[in-house]
Amino acid sequence: MTIHIGAKPGDIAETVLMPGDPLRAKWAAETFLTESRLVNEVRGMLGYTGLWRGNRVTIHGSGMGMPSLSIYANELIRDYGAKTLIRIGSCGAMQSHVGLRDIIIAMTATTLSTPSSGIFRELNFAPHADWSLLRAAVAAAEARGVTTHVGGIYSSDVFYDERPDLNEVMTRHGILGVEMEAAELYNLALRHGARALAVLTVSDHLLTGAALPADQRQGSFGDMVEIALHAAFP
Ligand code: ADE
Repeated sequence: MTIHIGAKPGDIAETVLMPGDPLRAKWAAETFLTESRLVNEVRGMLGYTGLWRGNRVTIHGSGMGMPSLSIYANELIRDYGAKTLIRIGSCGAMQSHVGLRDIIIAMTATTLSTPSSGIFRELNFAPHADWSLLRAAVAAAEARGVTTHVGGIYSSDVFYDERPDLNEVMTRHGILGVEMEAAELYNLALRHGARALAVLTVSDHLLTGAALPADQRQGSFGDMVEIALHAAFP
């Protein structure tokens, strides 16, 4: 057990899918895994371990924002031996050719800051996805015929952004979408020799203000979970 995860040694699989929302971890485990069982519920941050096509997988919430993700990813990697971590979550689109429900696979994550900024100091480190996971996720998305975009995203520290000018700069530089966790997941995986990827579903659009109704979110998130599982076990 760690400070934030109540799982016993061996309870966590080497492959971990990380949605922000713990209830989405429950839904994904119940929908996609067999023999799934609850391995963590400390602070309501649910984690489940089960099997997907015979492969052990843990689906564990990250919470919202990089500080929260950093706590869980650090403990999963350093204390429980997680080797492959795939964020599955939502994002806001920043390009007109990206639509609601589209999938974004994040090659890199631009930031203003991350919990690792204190380590990198003057260095503008470029957090990037693991190439083998990225390649397998793109292949899985193409095989499913889902509209998919691969490129840079923006990992923001705030949901309620007071700097629309910054979003405009991101859009002008081809950033596909904004979310709040991937960059630090990439930093931590690179630091500790693990593999990481973020597969995101577009839930809202910053350029048009459009947003997926709550009752349509779950369905489109299913594609993302399957792409992540295929990426981990190609
Ligand atoms: N996650 C989903 N939509 C988002 C947005 N517009 N900003 C930040 N994170 C998000």
